[in-house]
Amino acid sequence: MLIKEGGVKVRETITIKSIGKWEGKEVEIKGWLYNKRSSGKINFILIRDGTGIIQAVAVKGEVSDETFELCKSITQESSIIAKGVVRSDKRAPGGYELTLKELSLIQLAKDYPITPKEHGPDFLLDHRHLWLRSRRQHAIMLVRHRIIKACRDFLDNNGFVLIDTPILTPSACEGTTTLFATNYFDQTAYLTQSGQLYGEAACMAFRKIYCFGPTFRAEKSKTRRHLMEFWMVEPEMAFVQLDENMEFQEEFLSYIVEEVLKHNEEELKILERDTKPLYNIKPPFERLSYNEVVEILKKEGIDFKWGTDLGGTDETIISQKFNKPVFVHHFPAQVKAFYMQPDPEDPTLSLSVDMLAPEGYGEITGGGERIWEPEILKQRLEEHFLPMEAYKWYMDLRIYGSVPHSGFGLGIERTVAWICGLHHVRETIPFPRMLYRLYP
Ligand code: 4AD
Ligand code: MG
Repeated sequence: MLIKEGGVKVRETITIKSIGKWEGKEVEIKGWLYNKRSSGKINFILIRDGTGIIQAVAVKGEVSDETFELCKSITQESSIIAKGVVRSDKRAPGGYELTLKELSLIQLAKDYPITPKEHGPDFLLDHRHLWLRSRRQHAIMLVRHRIIKACRDFLDNNGFVLIDTPILTPSACEGTTTLFATNYFDQTAYLTQSGQLYGEAACMAFRKIYCFGPTFRAEKSKTRRHLMEFWMVEPEMAFVQLDENMEFQEEFLSYIVEEVLKHNEEELKILERDTKPLYNIKPPFERLSYNEVVEILKKEGIDFKWGTDLGGTDETIISQKFNKPVFVHHFPAQVKAFYMQPDPEDPTLSLSVDMLAPEGYGEITGGGERIWEPEILKQRLEEHFLPMEAYKWYMDLRIYGSVPHSGFGLGIERTVAWICGLHHVRETIPFPRMLYRLYP
């Protein structure tokens, strides 16, 4: 069947997701065998087509002997074409079932490695290319897709211009210790840690911009929150200061959560996510200064040293105390990157802010106000032993019409982990890059 979408002719395929449209009609579904069971005269096969899973029922005598035998002998993940009549069935997961008429094989999959039994994480990660087909991974990727779409929609609808920043860069944004270096003819290039510095240039041209892309950190961290390659959306806004930045972030995140709750009920159910805590995610969020956080940690009996960064455990403690995200602001300048604007009232502090997700998830955004006076920037570059030459263009932004500006970066994988209620970020990205994993 041909339909018109915006003047373009598109072939309409019958999918399991929209199978209800064909109730009572005979349809053809192309897909893969997800699972099967038999009770003598009846074969039940679960077919997945990438959009959903449906049960097809083959009754002996009502289908050809070939089809009946194929239902019995077919193996998990074999590719198939099934013809049958769509029946509404309240007990079926999607509300519909297929009364099978004919089954044909495209390719027989022998000994599919991921069986319905339990497998360990290493085995599953080695088979990530196949693991993505499972119901749970499928659900996670659909939530990820929704989160990314919500980020883009929110920014696009609020006057932000998408600016694609480079992946190959000559200098560091987030400290020189976590750079991936690569040969760039006769120079060294680094995989970008953040698009921020280029975003700052663009926000002086377009006022409100965002970049969205993969970012890289050679962090020798083997935690449930760290990946070597992760995706970040980074809005940057001219004339916006710390308070407004936080107000913007709470609206942004609330919209993302609202969109997932609106569109991904089924996926959150598959993931057994308790959605009650997600309904709390509405502005305003809690705001705590770094100094207040230190006091809370001390009261909890944590031996926390002022002037160090919050660790994973510290973040977990703080984020478990509230049922909404928490902003931690005014970190000591010494724990933050070179570009952070100092607090005019106490220059040992910076106008920085991290957002911690609730339920123990910890930091999901980092940002703040950027230094906008050239003298202070020059001093900071020197203190951080960063080569002035590489940052000349960045200094230009402070010389030619500098203004206060700020922004933040939201880590997509940590946001997916929190919203889906996952223990580890490794399941939040199609092909995770981790300390000891570059395959597949
Ligand atoms: O706090 P970060 O390092 O901030 C920046 O990169 C700023 N330049 C962003 C900006 O202001 N435009 O990183 C931002 C977020 C973190 O809060 C976290 O969610 C995520 O990126 N992130 C990671 N996610 C997974 N694995 C890692 N190794 C990550 N490092 C940071
Ligand atoms: Mg950070």
